Amino acid sequence: MMRTASIVVMVTAMAAALPSEDRYIDKPTTANQLLDNIAEKAAENIGNLGWNVSKNVQNGETNLPMHNDTNSVTNEVVDVINAFITGLDSLRRSKKASLNADQTELTGTLVVEDATVTGSYSASFPGVGVAPSQDIQGSVSETVQKLFADIVIRVADVNGVLVPQNIQSYQVRSGHDEVNVSGLGENNAMEPLHTAGFRKALRQILEDTMKKNVKVQINKAIQSIKTEASSK
Ligand SMILES: *[C@@H]1O[C@H](CO)[C@@H](O)[C@H](O)[C@H]1NC(C)=O
Ligand SMILES: *[C@@H]1O[C@H](CO)[C@@H](O)[C@H](O)[C@H]1NC(C)=O
Ligand SMILES: *[C@@H]1O[C@H](CO)[C@@H](O)[C@H](O)[C@H]1NC(C)=O
Repeated sequence: MMRTASIVVMVTAMAAALPSEDRYIDKPTTANQLLDNIAEKAAENIGNLGWNVSKNVQNGETNLPMHNDTNSVTNEVVDVINAFITGLDSLRRSKKASLNADQTELTGTLVVEDATVTGSYSASFPGVGVAPSQDIQGSVSETVQKLFADIVIRVADVNGVLVPQNIQSYQVRSGHDEVNVSGLGENNAMEPLHTAGFRKALRQILEDTMKKNVKVQINKAIQSIKTEASSK
């Protein structure tokens, strides 16, 4: 019995993971179909940019405020280089989308799964209180299991077909995340502080990418659907 059950689960998972090539619906009538079309085209744009393999992140220096036990603050300077993001091509609709009563506003949520930023770092911690200064380097990765964008899109009726027009609002939030830091050394008393700092800085990179770069591709998807509809 156990064995049968696990096979069923596997088959379901494989079906869900199939590429979504033929999902585009020419005359969408429901909120889900409208948002699926947009997600599908945006994921295609992401693929055309090569971001389905990885998207580079600009090298950057971050100042991380670190709090010690007594809550006093110091700044750790972290340099992250050769960082790249994976997972962006998993963009799709999350949960049910909806249309308002007069069908002028589409409300829904898009999600990227297992968005991961990986990079090398060097960090310099000036020391605070009894904690000594430290210079460390290594590699780091941060994965957000679900990176959401809550979106509202203006919709118009074009010759009896619902056509998305533009993004009215767009809010990014992230679900459960995990950071993985190497190079801190054994028994580094500062590990929790470093780890929390990296986690915050890298999650910010992922959220910013969803806020800016991914949003641009969603908007391009909307504009191309709009252009196509008006040329029919
Ligand atoms: C990435 O997307 C492009 C364009 O759709 C495609 O040609 C390429 O095979 C994709 N690469 C991977 C690894 O999926
Ligand atoms: C926290 O920082 C303050 C100010 O630098 C220092 O006086 C205190 O000893 C530090 N506490 C610990 C536990 O390091
Ligand atoms: C964490 O990083 C180490 C070293 O790079 C790697 O071997 C390990 O698989 C990583 N773990 C996770 C959960 O990413």
